[in-house]
Amino acid sequence: MSILLTGGLGYIGSHTAVELLNRGEDVIIVDDLSNSKIIVKNKIMQITGKKFKFIKADLKNLKKTEKIFKNNNISAVVHFAGYKIVGESLNHPIKYYENNILITLNLLKCMEKYNVYNMVFSSSASIYGDQNEMPVKETFSTHANNPYSRTKLYIEEILKDFYNSNNKFNFAILRYFNPVGAHESGLIGEDPNDTPTNLMPYITKVATGELKELSIFGNDYSTKDGTGVRDFIHVCDLAIGHALALNKLKEKPGVFICNLGTGKGYTVLETVTTFNKVNGNLVKYKFVERRSGDIAISYADTTKAEKELKFKAKYNLEEMCKTSYKFEKNNK
Ligand code: UD1
Repeated sequence: MSILLTGGLGYIGSHTAVELLNRGEDVIIVDDLSNSKIIVKNKIMQITGKKFKFIKADLKNLKKTEKIFKNNNISAVVHFAGYKIVGESLNHPIKYYENNILITLNLLKCMEKYNVYNMVFSSSASIYGDQNEMPVKETFSTHANNPYSRTKLYIEEILKDFYNSNNKFNFAILRYFNPVGAHESGLIGEDPNDTPTNLMPYITKVATGELKELSIFGNDYSTKDGTGVRDFIHVCDLAIGHALALNKLKEKPGVFICNLGTGKGYTVLETVTTFNKVNGNLVKYKFVERRSGDIAISYADTTKAEKELKFKAKYNLEEMCKTSYKFEKNNK
């Protein structure tokens, strides 16, 4: 039996593939390469010393999706595939709704037809939007404020409806905070096809000289140094979270919703300062206006993850900064 990873050559998918292969699982990766590179396949094999099946396919195509389920013995799906750039989603909402939702519907249709009852879904803490209270608990109301985040929220609702219609299904919905860092080998990491919009990939490209200077969006928030606060979590910790979620589905069926974060918030300025401390003084920055749609503070309540998943993030911010830069240098 194999675990199907959709979008498995992407940033979080590739690190999860490594984690699952290292745990002795059989993995099949499907990816359309729209925001990933085929070389990642070999890198995963290089890190793990293990082989796995790769299928290039666009899961919006139901026939192709069905073929994958028909030809393979799949026990569970870890569903990463989806577009994920907030700014782009504001300009191209249909592209986001069509891609992210249609892929999920096709997967669910095939899972039902081929009796595959377990799915781990890649959701996002961005569905919480602006909250008055920190840390963010899973029970808080959701305030998705852009099409990308709404696709995540709507998919969560679709999964719940699907479970209500057929409770043989088990879904683990993981709400990621801010994934950063890279595998310690420096072979895989975050490698966006376009100029990054997220903080850490932007920082690493300033460090290598590919980008000139970091703009810090706002220094007038009500935080200790005025810059935004985020819960950065190492992508290898996140990968472990997925392996634990797969186990959880076996032991406690139903719909399980869980934050994946460290529970600690760092300001943007602290993050840049830490990066400069561990990698040399490489990143110049300036303060500019706030970015529209940004929230001031976001960090996770990790109680549920600790209690029910037995998950506790172990990498600190220094390690996140070191490994991010190591990958960027290797990959340049
Ligand atoms: C973003 C997305 C969110 C997604 C998450 C993880 C937005 C509004 N939200 O969250 O939906 O789930 O990434 O991929 O894009 N910053 C700078 N300069 C930069 C880039 C970022 O100062 O060049 C600041 C931001 O203002 C923010 C922090 O760094 O305070 C983190 O930004 P980012 O990495 O884009 O993540 P989020 O905005 O938290």
